[in-house]
Amino acid sequence: MKIALYPGSFDPVTLGHYDVICRASKLVDRLIIGVLKNTNKNALFSEEERVEMIRTLTKDLPNVEVASFHGLTVDYAKERGARFLVRGLRAVTDFEYELQMAQTNHKIAPDIDTLFFTTSVQYAYVSSSIVKEVASYGGDISGFVAPEIVPLVYEKYHITNGEKEHGQQQN
Ligand code: PNS
Repeated sequence: MKIALYPGSFDPVTLGHYDVICRASKLVDRLIIGVLKNTNKNALFSEEERVEMIRTLTKDLPNVEVASFHGLTVDYAKERGARFLVRGLRAVTDFEYELQMAQTNHKIAPDIDTLFFTTSVQYAYVSSSIVKEVASYGGDISGFVAPEIVPLVYEKYHITNGEKEHGQQQN
């Protein structure tokens, strides 16, 4: 059984993440989405909220499981029997960090390989940080996150639908 772990912060999950999840889920028998537990106090969503959001999005993907973890990604992969790590590559700017991480992970866990998915071109510029930046000013994030996620992000910035339409920020 081929099991892969897709680790990340997912704060929040974007359409780019979702694209990678759908594609990776077709390649393996089981895909575990591992949400890294908050080490960063500046995270917008709690780990429970992030897990819940991804569960909502992946409810129709039967071989996808969502869980949170702390510590080293490779340790969690071993604990879950995952032989592969999944990561998305958007642009050359991601490459250096991703290469370093994949090589470090492979050095400390030689049995685990990282599979990279090049993000579909329409999501190449989408990141969780961009979503937060745009949403914090009441901008339109409907092209970046799934419809179910949009109001949850605005809610964090105390922006109602009406205010969003006028591009206003309340706090
Ligand atoms: O979505 P992100 O923030 O780019 O994901 C980064 C993540 C969670 C994959 C990475 O920070 C990670 O694996 N953290 C856990 C600690 C670890 O194993 N670090 C890798 C050794 S370089």
